[in-house]
Amino acid sequence: MAGRIPQSFIDELLARVDIVDVIDRYVPLKKAGNNHKACCPFHNEKTPSFNVSQTKQFYHCFGCGVSGTAISFLMDFDHMHFVDAVEYLADSVGLEVPRDAIVPITPSQQGLYDALQQCSAYYTAQLRTHECAINYLKNRHITGETALDFQIGFAPDQWHALIGATQSNESSLITTGMLIRNDSGKTHDRFRNRIMFPIRDRRGRVIGFGGRVMDNAEPKYLNSPETPLFQKGRELYGLYELRKHKRNRADRIIVVEGYMDVIALAQQGIKNAVATLGTATSPEQVSLLFRETDEIVFCFDGDNAGTKAAWRALNSALPSLKSGRDARFLFLPAGEDPDSLVNTHGKDHFEQLVQNNALEASEFMFSTLMEQSRKGSDESGTGHKARLAELVRPMIEQMPKGVYRELVTQQLNDRVGVQVMTAAAPEPQAATQHSSTARQTPVRRALIAILSQPAVVLEIDPEEYNFSDQIPGASLLLQVVSVVENNPAITHSGVLEYFREKPEGASLIKLAANTIGESAETGIDDPLSVVRHAIQWLNKESRLLNTTSIDKPPSAMTADEKEALRQRIESLKKS
Ligand code: UTP
Ligand code: MN
Repeated sequence: MAGRIPQSFIDELLARVDIVDVIDRYVPLKKAGNNHKACCPFHNEKTPSFNVSQTKQFYHCFGCGVSGTAISFLMDFDHMHFVDAVEYLADSVGLEVPRDAIVPITPSQQGLYDALQQCSAYYTAQLRTHECAINYLKNRHITGETALDFQIGFAPDQWHALIGATQSNESSLITTGMLIRNDSGKTHDRFRNRIMFPIRDRRGRVIGFGGRVMDNAEPKYLNSPETPLFQKGRELYGLYELRKHKRNRADRIIVVEGYMDVIALAQQGIKNAVATLGTATSPEQVSLLFRETDEIVFCFDGDNAGTKAAWRALNSALPSLKSGRDARFLFLPAGEDPDSLVNTHGKDHFEQLVQNNALEASEFMFSTLMEQSRKGSDESGTGHKARLAELVRPMIEQMPKGVYRELVTQQLNDRVGVQVMTAAAPEPQAATQHSSTARQTPVRRALIAILSQPAVVLEIDPEEYNFSDQIPGASLLLQVVSVVENNPAITHSGVLEYFREKPEGASLIKLAANTIGESAETGIDDPLSVVRHAIQWLNKESRLLNTTSIDKPPSAMTADEKEALRQRIESLKKS
């Protein structure tokens, strides 16, 4: 992706900076044993439970549970954006931040914003003089007022309009994706003969465009590429317009799939919709939305693709789900989208659908996984219940601790008929409870060992891994192993940063947090054998799983059988 900071640089950076220096600048730290301590800057307390580990380059508060790397600290405490935090740290150790971007930012950022603004002004002016485009919008029931609100424009059917029509130079127009340079070095306009939808950031600056054909030509939409100003996973179409309309927090935000859906809804008076930009909803987008509202309703087609998109959105939402917040899922009748629905049935009908037909996140999760677990096991029996527990558990673990997570945990226990998960214990007070021995399963120990000494992975022959990634924890272990294999010099905090945007990140951070402040802080005696032991355990567990089947409903089981099932699930849970 253009403009991205390469992961290898993040690894190197985290190996160079010292988290103790970084945090100490904000919160004076005192050395205490292996760690540095302070009263936690993230919550009110009188005795220090905020620990910073120099060996692990990681912080954790035993009072409120926050934890992370030097980068997370700057993001959470100083409210820096990821890129700013990286730049700040790089600066402090004299490193230059490299970019994956092939196109460097030569003109100033402002010049790029200006170029896009000038293109947008040109397109809106062109719309006024092109009847075909006006008619197209009229046919789609868009009024002039709405077109103005969304700054809809038109790119005429010309190859070289922008260079003359804007005061921007070729380089700015190329960097912002408005011009394309072909193999022979010549440039031409990317968007031609298309209705233009400017994409604006939260502050209203144009950062890219979507352009639609007016007939059935392909591709229907052309979008700006990722540029230094435009990263699709971080932006939402319509968010600026929504914020402009709502002076306060929105009661609810509806997430739809298309530009035209946002516009059609707004046209009908539903001004709280935003769209993802042709990509899956990212965790970053979800957390952005929860800054604006407490309720998100994802609105997708009822077809296969829509269900898949919803499932990804659910996974992105899990880390943000806590009580007081709602994520719901509305599946539309086949062949309809919000645009067609609101235009045929009106505003009230659509709002009623949102109100009455949207599934709660947990309902959607359980119904999908129940179906999946039934498919995966014999028609009869309770094999599917164990399977359900296996599938649901890692999802629940993505949720922040709290009342909502406990409710969902309870729902899982009710469905399986035995207690497969205990609701979260109350938040530990001060530095008394670290990792309880119950949590120290082979896979967890192995992950901790690898985090403490990533290079240990390089001593293991891939042939040794002989287990199914269906066993809880196994897939995370394999992912961590492959990250280290691909980045042999990676550090503890580097591994954690690698998983920042991935759903597994939260579990890893939790594991790392569990070990901070322990006396064995400086390292595990023999990490290699800890990892080997986990591999052997997983290999054995895999073999067992293939031959053990539980095929009766709990009501038909003897007490012994129930107990065996409970233990089986319990042991899976511990891994
Ligand atoms: P849709 O085809 O559902 O868009 O694609 P839409 O808004 O309903 O289009 P209309 O009603 O036919 O005008 C949803 C989104 O997927 C991306 C766009 O972001 C679009 O809004 N997309 C779709 C593309 O990027 N390219 C395409 O060719 C199609
Ligand atoms: Mn549509």
